[in-house]
Amino acid sequence: MTLKIGVLTGGGDCAGLNSAVKWVVKTAIDPNLATHRGESLEVVGIREGWKGLIDVDPANPESVAKWTTPLDELVVRTWDRHGGTILGSSRTNPFSPKIDKGELCVANIRDLGIGALVAIGGEDTLSVAHKLYNLGQKVVGIPKTIDRDLSATDYTLGYDTALNVIVEEVDRLRTTAGSHNRLFVVEVMGRHAGWLALEGGQAAGAHVILIPEHDFEVEKVAELLEKRRRAGVRYDIVVVSEGAKIKGQEEIYLSEKVDSFGHKVLGGIGETLAKRLEELTGFETRHVCLSHIQRGGQPSARDRLMGRYYGIAAVDLILEEDFGRMVAFRDGQITSVPLKKAIEKLYVVNVDQLYDPSRYNGRRSAMIPRGRSHK
Ligand code: F6P
Repeated sequence: MTLKIGVLTGGGDCAGLNSAVKWVVKTAIDPNLATHRGESLEVVGIREGWKGLIDVDPANPESVAKWTTPLDELVVRTWDRHGGTILGSSRTNPFSPKIDKGELCVANIRDLGIGALVAIGGEDTLSVAHKLYNLGQKVVGIPKTIDRDLSATDYTLGYDTALNVIVEEVDRLRTTAGSHNRLFVVEVMGRHAGWLALEGGQAAGAHVILIPEHDFEVEKVAELLEKRRRAGVRYDIVVVSEGAKIKGQEEIYLSEKVDSFGHKVLGGIGETLAKRLEELTGFETRHVCLSHIQRGGQPSARDRLMGRYYGIAAVDLILEEDFGRMVAFRDGQITSVPLKKAIEKLYVVNVDQLYDPSRYNGRRSAMIPRGRSHK
């Protein structure tokens, strides 16, 4: 008997996805492991996430060839070096009341002969995986998102590469900012979680970091920057998360349109803030939105490795028939958690532990018990 594993990537692309797919394939079809297992495995990639599973017509060979692709050692050999997702992705939600295709996904999984499904994604993709599991499907998840906002895992694929992009880009801006005595406001992604802004900003040495978890006052940002100029600094870098809010105001969106998971696209706070800061300080100010650049580029060593470990672990879960779980990294170990736990609440920055609202930057205490006054 051969068990067919389906694998798909959903939601926003990022680095590390192709590595995870490669290692699902390599582990599943490893001939040495196969002899121990007494069961042979094969892997099929589903194109464009849940969209592929909805649009495929299993009775039509052309449609099957369009929406699915057999994956073997030779096909995936070089995948881990590449960013994005070679299988493609979409933000399609089969359970959105507008399309209501949950049951169709179940039927297509059956008719494609898929015995177990690996869903690689963030909160949205994994919430669909969880619903399919509740409908009796043999599903396991792999966490990815540059936002790092999934609970129950200390690592999500794509995060490290995105952090490195932020550092590289801020380093580039630093020279031009210095040459012209300018203030640069750099907007980064992260949705409602400030991880990319906080850790990217700290790694890049930003002077002010603004995160969604703490509403900020523009006047206070201006004061902090003026104080630095009085101390002789020539230029400044402010990193602002796309989900950060000016106190008393709402988040800023690029458009009011919502996707099938009910999200609007955040964006624009960098520009708004840059204008206000120029008015308040008189410093010549520019803004840069790093946007999707953060999701691109070659995967970092960490994302390649974590993709590998997660891919291997996903096959382990399948062989153990431990479905409805997501592979995870916790306390320095690869492990797994129920999908339900991963999606039940967003993992965001704990301001009391990590952020200093008086400096609008990372807290300067790493060992002091939390709650004490030293910052
Ligand atoms: O969830 C990942 C993410 O990159 C967010 O940080 C960002 O808000 C969103 O996706 C952008 O989505 P899209 O690719 O649909 O523009």
